[in-house]
Amino acid sequence: MLERGKYIFDASGCANCHTDRAKKGPLLGGGAAIKTPFGTFYGPNISPHPERGIGKWSDAQFIRAMREGVSPAGDHYYPAFPYTSFTLMTDRDIKDLKAYIFSLPPIDRQNRPHTLGFPYNIRWGLWFWKTLYLEEGPYKAAPDKSKEWNRGAYLVEALTHCGECHTPRTSLGGMKRSLSMAGNAQGPDNERIPNITPDPKTGIGKWSLAEIIDSLETGSLPDGDEFGSLMYDVVEHGTSKLTDADRRAIAVYLKALPPIQNSVAKPKK
Ligand code: HEC
Ligand code: HEC
Repeated sequence: MLERGKYIFDASGCANCHTDRAKKGPLLGGGAAIKTPFGTFYGPNISPHPERGIGKWSDAQFIRAMREGVSPAGDHYYPAFPYTSFTLMTDRDIKDLKAYIFSLPPIDRQNRPHTLGFPYNIRWGLWFWKTLYLEEGPYKAAPDKSKEWNRGAYLVEALTHCGECHTPRTSLGGMKRSLSMAGNAQGPDNERIPNITPDPKTGIGKWSLAEIIDSLETGSLPDGDEFGSLMYDVVEHGTSKLTDADRRAIAVYLKALPPIQNSVAKPKK
């Protein structure tokens, strides 16, 4: 269970937002600033500390947070916590993930409050956001697709949540599902996040299956460049730790996405 849990933990990048790596902060003791158009978020302490972390949470409370984006006290979470993707995880995976997190050292570190402007600082308004943008899981396998495609879909859409960065967002911050993975200039500081649909001109349609698999393992692109920025963490702490079969399933799924022509303009200075 712990081994499965660790695998899910790495794949889904929990530590990327809940550990302040740049400052060598303790694992899951709370993350660095996440800048968004709505304000700055700080991933909270999710270590098993009973007061400062989530050490008192039951399995049901943890499942509810991941599936519905609701806290044990009944508050709605901001989608800066990508539960819009994690909602698709199976109960079993969520429980194994919790077992692994609860095997880690408890960290006595207080949460930093988010700094959000009006009206985004009003948490209850999120129920409305959810009616627009949260499609609750778990993932349902498509019976007309192969086992490998379904595994890829589960990895990409639920665990590794590629679309949380690669899919363009509406002005309210919801993912535009019709443009899934088509890229945007909406990363932190208007950073450009590339189109990873199989469009040959504006996406990664010219990459072979092997090249996609290799980039997710090594962090090297077909042109010899290396992934930088947020994608470095995705590979270094995530996809590089997956099995070959899972990296292949991701690539198979990406190759089968509908190609979308969308050239992402360079960000405005
Ligand atoms: C992209 C950044 C990001 C990733 C990746 C991420 N989280 Fe979070 N998480 C957040 C933010 C930001 C919040 C605070 C949300 C809020 O205040 O409404 C949060 C909140 C939480 C909470 C609620 C904590 C509390 O005190 O109420 C839990 C539990 C949680 N995350 C678990 C996880 C797990 C498990 C993973 C990996 C599967 C994960 N998160 C991945 C950003 C992230
Ligand atoms: C936390 C945000 C984030 C997540 C999650 C994410 N990416 Fe990325 N990705 C980026 C950024 C930013 C870049 C640009 C990297 C650079 O400039 O070096 C990128 C670049 C890429 C590229 C290179 C495309 C090109 O044309 O150069 C591929 C392929 C890619 N990502 C695939 C994926 C896949 C597959 C996943 C899910 C397993 C994923 N990404 C998840 C942020 C993310």
